[in-house]
Amino acid sequence: MSTLKINSDRLWDSLMEMAKIGGTEKGGCKRLALTDLDKQGRELYIKWAEEAGCSVKVDAIGNIMCTRPGEDMSLAPVGTGSHLDTQPTGGKFDGVFGVLAGLEVVRSLNDQNIKTKHPVEISVWTNEEGSRFAPAMMGSGVVSGRFGLQEILDTTDVDGLRLGDELERIGFAGETPVTGRKFHAFFETHIEQGPYLEAENKQIGVVTGGQGQRWYNATLLGRESHAGTTPMHLRCDALLASTQLIQKVEDIAKAHAPGCGTVGFMQVVPNSRNTIPGKIEMSIDLRHPLDEELSAMDKALSEAIAEIESATGVAIQLDPFWYYEPIHFDENCVNAVRKAANDLGYSNMDIIAGAGHDACYVSDFAPTSMIFTPCLNGISHNEIESTTQEECEAGCSVLLNAIVTMAEQ
Ligand code: GLV
Ligand code: MN
Ligand code: MN
Ligand code: MN
Repeated sequence: MSTLKINSDRLWDSLMEMAKIGGTEKGGCKRLALTDLDKQGRELYIKWAEEAGCSVKVDAIGNIMCTRPGEDMSLAPVGTGSHLDTQPTGGKFDGVFGVLAGLEVVRSLNDQNIKTKHPVEISVWTNEEGSRFAPAMMGSGVVSGRFGLQEILDTTDVDGLRLGDELERIGFAGETPVTGRKFHAFFETHIEQGPYLEAENKQIGVVTGGQGQRWYNATLLGRESHAGTTPMHLRCDALLASTQLIQKVEDIAKAHAPGCGTVGFMQVVPNSRNTIPGKIEMSIDLRHPLDEELSAMDKALSEAIAEIESATGVAIQLDPFWYYEPIHFDENCVNAVRKAANDLGYSNMDIIAGAGHDACYVSDFAPTSMIFTPCLNGISHNEIESTTQEECEAGCSVLLNAIVTMAEQ
């Protein structure tokens, strides 16, 4: 039985300190990947990790690796980590909790003079959010081999800035190769970002896997023309057609419950009050825990697009640019999380991750699982995202005990 405890005040203070970097008026956080604020967050993190005795390395995609030595340095580390980047209107906890929980584990091991056989390594993965540069989970995706390094470095943001240049600019284009990473086991701690733990009144989610995702760019081409002189029956309005497509995304998700479908990004061209919109660029995000259902949603989307095209005369190009299948986490790691929660007396339940997480890609090359904690009203990707010190303490204590158990095996 392993019942080690962490320093809850220190964890909370670190969360609040990091939240000041990019802190918003509404109490959230805006620290987009590879901006000056991301650089500041990374530098503070490295300072804290070095003060806790970790050696720090940065790889070619900007992932930060902080290692607490083990007794046998020939052994693969037990890993943990998450991300420091946020959504444009993000909260204080999404991602940040996972990297600071990792740091608190190292600090607690130091306080309690605990030596582990395996080293313990914390990863701060680059651009998990996929908001400024799409898709998401880029740092872990490059390390897992799902993405090529060059293709990711060449990704551009909406202003045409290249990811590789931004990485250089903030000083995080590191020397360590992205290949050859190994973990004896990997755990990511994260707020749930959904309503289920709160609804069931559980302190810990034992995450058994993550749902699959399909991301698309859709381009709708109509015809720009004058808002006052073009009779209604002679219009080819791309924005109007896009409303039909948005409705279809909603219908498809509802027809494939518990699937999700979202249009979150849209650009209207020319975006002028008195010109009928000729072009729309929009994102579509489909998710489902079952791959066959996700495929059925994909098929339904193509069919809906053909119908909208023939009904409106607007040409729609659908570009599927990111897919990953539902992920099943490693049984031993899942059991280690469940056992740690039970040993510590925390109520818990099994759960599937609705959001994307770096752990999903790490599970390609290492035994992996995740620990969820509740978040207030299940709301995340919102500045009001909230959780309590006690909930963070529980998640971090489970992480500490799961890591210590695996680091001895
Ligand atoms: C990232 O946070 C995602 O799940 O979309
Ligand atoms: Mn996250
Ligand atoms: Mn997120
Ligand atoms: Mn995410």
